Amino acid sequence: MKVLLIGSGGREHVLAWKIAQSSECEKLYVAPGNAGIAKLGECLSIKAEDIEELLKFVKENKIDLTVVGPELPLVNGLVNQFESEGLLVFGPTKEAAQLEGSKIFSKELMLESKVPTASSQVFSNVNDAKRYIIEQEPPIVIKADGLAAGKGVVIAHSCEEGIEAVNRMIAKRVFGDAGSRVLIEECLTGAELSVLVLTDGETVIPLASSQDHKRAFDQDEGPNTGGMGAYSPCSLVDDAKLEEIVRLTAQPIIQTLKKKGIIYRGVLYVGIMMTQKGPYVLEYNVRFGDPEAQAVLPRLKTDLLSILLQIAKGKLETKTLEWDSRACITVVIASQGYPGSYTTGFPILGLEEVASMGGVIPFHAGTKLNEEGKTVTAGGRVLSISALGATLRDAYEMAYCAVKRISFKNAFYRTDIGRQALATNFSIKNSRHS
Ligand code: AMP
Ligand code: GLY
Repeated sequence: MKVLLIGSGGREHVLAWKIAQSSECEKLYVAPGNAGIAKLGECLSIKAEDIEELLKFVKENKIDLTVVGPELPLVNGLVNQFESEGLLVFGPTKEAAQLEGSKIFSKELMLESKVPTASSQVFSNVNDAKRYIIEQEPPIVIKADGLAAGKGVVIAHSCEEGIEAVNRMIAKRVFGDAGSRVLIEECLTGAELSVLVLTDGETVIPLASSQDHKRAFDQDEGPNTGGMGAYSPCSLVDDAKLEEIVRLTAQPIIQTLKKKGIIYRGVLYVGIMMTQKGPYVLEYNVRFGDPEAQAVLPRLKTDLLSILLQIAKGKLETKTLEWDSRACITVVIASQGYPGSYTTGFPILGLEEVASMGGVIPFHAGTKLNEEGKTVTAGGRVLSISALGATLRDAYEMAYCAVKRISFKNAFYRTDIGRQALATNFSIKNSRHS
């Protein structure tokens, strides 16, 4: 089978790594890919957002299956366009992708589906929003409705901060039309958990649980990022709890969409906060998490490509997944300044040494080959180093042993990925993880 994978981050590197392992994969193309992905497949100079060029490539090269990594092409209707030409593609349609593309759509669907979530109000007028904020007890959460490159959520610790956020979003349009409407939401507290399911719109199978570390610095300090590291399985839930969360938060949404004539096909990411009142949904994403995928997929023994193909064809025949009993920890190495501005183009040392360490997989994100063929930094999140270990502690030690062997100018990483879980002395008891 000839496969085209769309995207260029760490998530796409692990997807490429899994897809390339499949005996069904004859040839893998990646648009646009990165320096690490280039070792697994042929990288194309087509941007992930360029739907017309991607479509042209797929038709001319008789691609059997297209797999979409990031959300933007999904929200922009890549799947609708491909399917209208009779092409097989893994990912939800633009109607279903509204779950991530519009936080207001998503909230309305949660209410309709009786999914537990924070109470909220919608505003498109700055003065109404300000009046409402003044009546609330901080902290309060302000969310831009549309896609804002992971920067559209503000946890305001004072009314002034909240008012500044709505000013920036609604009046100044710092996120363009994505901020023309905002959701002002009750602030929840608790530990966060990422639950991902694969679905054809009817059958729903959960992937192993994971936990992201969103803040830039140790001990959850600093600004929110796309994710600075993850581990799997997550110490907060066992198999039974994971299934309950899927029943409460993923299945009802997929069913409500179906009643509206929208069949959700792809992977659905549910961001959960474990509150004192039980699991509450923070957000839905319509794609694999990054860096969650780099911690979860190395543990998946089942052939991923075959599942992606089944879902693209509309019928998920596989009903259970087989998992490696080992734990996995992924540590992101970023460029100093991320998630703000940073400089790039610095040579990365130590990659080959790390790749030869058993159980360690260095996934690339913001990397490229320079004119001399050297791997250099090219983004905010540069690498995500995944390590498998018999216990979470082994994985932690392995991951950091590898991370310390990598160097590039202005590199930074968190030193505490998975450490809280280690402190609770968690051992993997999940029956399914044989
Ligand atoms: P989102 O993009 O909606 O997941 O928001 C990004 C991050 O903001 C989440 O991972 C949470 O850490 C935080 N967050 C979002 N909504 C809430 C909420 N209602 N209460 C507390 N924290 C939140
Ligand atoms: N790691 C969070 C996300 O992928 O949205």
